[in-house]
Amino acid sequence: MFDKLKVRRSFDKAASTYDDSAILQREVVSRILERLDFIKLEPGVILDVGAGTGYIAQGLSVRYKKAKIIELDLSLAMLQQRNKHSPWYKRFLKSSRLVCGDAENLPVADNSVDMLFSSLTIQWCNDLQHTLKEFMRVLKPGGLLMFSTFGPDTLKELRDSWAKVDQAAHVSPFLDMHDIGDMLLHARLAEPVMDVETFTLTYDNVTSLVNDLRAIGATNASHERQKGLTAKSDYRAMLAAYESWRDADNKIPASYEVIYGHAWKGQLAEDAGNVQVEFHR
Ligand SMILES: C[S@@+](CC[C@H](N)C(=O)[O-])C[C@H]1O[C@@H](n2cnc3c(N)ncnc32)[C@H](O)[C@@H]1O
Repeated sequence: MFDKLKVRRSFDKAASTYDDSAILQREVVSRILERLDFIKLEPGVILDVGAGTGYIAQGLSVRYKKAKIIELDLSLAMLQQRNKHSPWYKRFLKSSRLVCGDAENLPVADNSVDMLFSSLTIQWCNDLQHTLKEFMRVLKPGGLLMFSTFGPDTLKELRDSWAKVDQAAHVSPFLDMHDIGDMLLHARLAEPVMDVETFTLTYDNVTSLVNDLRAIGATNASHERQKGLTAKSDYRAMLAAYESWRDADNKIPASYEVIYGHAWKGQLAEDAGNVQVEFHR
């Protein structure tokens, strides 16, 4: 279980460094936006859940010029980063709303959103099944859910290296694509389609990776985490264990398994929870 206060504080703290370090996050957003080329929908209202510093909203506002975009995030500081962005944002703010709130308890009316977008955020939710039901609640009939999240192989090298040092939870657990597919069906979302892609980022050393994770707010926020400072000797033991992952180019790899998915809120009750999930690998 995540400590929401800790999640919020980590992202608040990372807000000013997020944009410079969120290379993978940018790439994932671009890939989701490309997927919209194949989807016929002219949304009037778009809700971006876990909107972060506003990169997605920029892309969506170019694509859907008439749409009103609601950007929601648990971290007020992440939302506030926008004010420092380029002049386009002043224009954009006229059609956009910023909301500080929780994906698991959306302060949004039933049946009010045409497209719900969420990139690399739902892995921070404590009860994904409940969160998907929330998404279903706010979507209009015929509305689209479009999301990305991390799968279980994400940061496998870091998890493995810490496991050689102690039994504490240092890396968040991530759900498998098939489990998420089942949850989509259970939430009665229709025609779910999912696929997965693996990215490997490389670093000169493990400390650069750890600093990068901190800069994007991806710190350990589970209730089960070891509270207090990690002992220097344990950290050094983790660094030593990670060396066994060094690759042929003498780089330290960090794997990210990115799961992409989309599903619809059916127009009719009988559309709901359409029989099977389509998985692509
Ligand atoms: C990895 S960032 C992704 C930001 C943005 N979607 C992007 O792709 O650049 C995750 C975001 O989710 C937000 N977040 C985490 N838990 C959340 C929750 N329960 N409800 C809403 N936002 C949440 C964080 O504050 C952070 O801005």
